[in-house]
Amino acid sequence: MMTEIVWRDAYAVGVEEIDRQHQDFVKLIRRLQILQEKGNPKHLVIRLIRELGAYAQYHFVSEENIMYLIRYPGLQRQESEHSRLLESFQEKVKSYEGGRVSLEGLIQFLIDWFVSHSTEEDQKIGSHIQQSG
Ligand SMILES: [Fe+2]
Ligand SMILES: [Fe+2]
Repeated sequence: MMTEIVWRDAYAVGVEEIDRQHQDFVKLIRRLQILQEKGNPKHLVIRLIRELGAYAQYHFVSEENIMYLIRYPGLQRQESEHSRLLESFQEKVKSYEGGRVSLEGLIQFLIDWFVSHSTEEDQKIGSHIQQSG
């Protein structure tokens, strides 16, 4: 069994709106884990995955707008990273739907996806705001 995903202080970016959305995203992944643990049918899982994908899309646009407003110099890099992330997400979902990836594999992918992008890229937004005062 996988370890359950919970929000950690280490994930914090230091921008209130971004952190609030990241916390919601973690909750969606946790809900997916609970469905997996309870052995829920695939049609329910697919609905939740759709919700999670829509939320990720919303979050990326929202985060890009925050970066635009503060004239964040890494905006373009983030935009291409976000579209790359959405592409790899769609690919994983297709593999899951086609039975080539297990639900556990998909969830692990989402956890890695969230943790690496938020701690490697999004945290730079918070540092930028701190530095520019
Ligand atoms: Fe983010
Ligand atoms: Fe981001």
